[in-house]
Amino acid sequence: MERGGGTPLPGKRRRTRGVLLAVLAVLLLLVVVAVVVGVSVRQKAHALKPTFMARCEAFKGYDCEKIWGVFEQAYVGLDPCEVPMEAYDPLIAAVPFKPACNRMMFWSKTKDVVHDFTEKRDCFLTVEETLLGSVLDGLTWCGKEGSRETFTTDCPGWSDCENNTVRSFWNRVSTAFADEACGDVSAMLNGSIVMPFNPTSVFASIEVKRFHFPRVKSLKVVLVTQQNSVTNCTNASLKDLQEELDQRITYNCKEVAEAQLEECGAHPETSCGSCW
Ligand SMILES: *[C@@H]1O[C@H](CO)[C@@H](O)[C@H](O)[C@H]1NC(C)=O
Ligand SMILES: *[C@@H]1O[C@H](CO)[C@@H](O)[C@H](O)[C@H]1NC(C)=O
Ligand SMILES: *[C@@H]1O[C@H](CO)[C@@H](O)[C@H](O)[C@H]1NC(C)=O
Ligand SMILES: *[C@@H]1O[C@H](CO)[C@@H](O)[C@H](O)[C@H]1NC(C)=O
Repeated sequence: MERGGGTPLPGKRRRTRGVLLAVLAVLLLLVVVAVVVGVSVRQKAHALKPTFMARCEAFKGYDCEKIWGVFEQAYVGLDPCEVPMEAYDPLIAAVPFKPACNRMMFWSKTKDVVHDFTEKRDCFLTVEETLLGSVLDGLTWCGKEGSRETFTTDCPGWSDCENNTVRSFWNRVSTAFADEACGDVSAMLNGSIVMPFNPTSVFASIEVKRFHFPRVKSLKVVLVTQQNSVTNCTNASLKDLQEELDQRITYNCKEVAEAQLEECGAHPETSCGSCW
């Protein structure tokens, strides 16, 4: 009786203590996970401004703090799907594009190749190398109704809604950049896709429409080809491009192998344009 009644108690106590310790360990783990996740989310949310400022300060003679302030006004406190292009008008007015006649390079579906090339050779300028293009290249941001903060997560994607914070920015900046196009303009398009001139692209839907004669004299398409290229300069979509241009703008298209561009980029001393 005594043993029978006495022995279960220490065992039960030990088991109870074991269960308590396990519960505590799980709770502690949850707290640690929550803190780590919370901190990393907060760090991400605050990552936009330092990146923006650091990239902006690489350009001399601008008041980057002021530019950030004007930029923020475009979207803070707004539904991220209700930010039209026009919201960025004050930003464009604050940092106008300088025309770079004969050096302007547009691109569609050739982002890595075009920047690899333009960074090595100083001959051409893409929108991502201008102040406004560079400070936000590759980044995501948005606001939220009822908040003064900038978020970098849970923002709508490019095609989630027409007037989203990021897409409207690129549409507005591309419009302003293309408005400055002058002289001989170049465009790097992709020969490995079936439709190198795609009507839904920023290049087709926005930029080409801003090329006006006599400010723009010619458009040279560099169709970047690879081993698996499916298209060439005779493709019908490029005929559409040619037709869309003012007929007084000289058009030409040249197929250039990606390997040739790399080779050319490795020799920055050769004159501009000699790559094609
Ligand atoms: C997007 O904004 C433009 C104004 O820039 C407006 O005309 C258009 O209706 C808006 N689209 C949607 C889907 O709200
Ligand atoms: C062309 O597009 C394909 C498919 O998206 C991509 O894999 C390729 O790298 C692009 N070519 C160039 C030159 O950017
Ligand atoms: C261009 O591509 C078409 C098929 O899309 C082919 O028939 C034609 O021979 C090619 N032209 C050249 C010059 O490679
Ligand atoms: C060329 O352009 C047309 C449309 O403009 C497209 O439908 C066609 O598939 C393209 N590519 C090839 C490889 O023919």
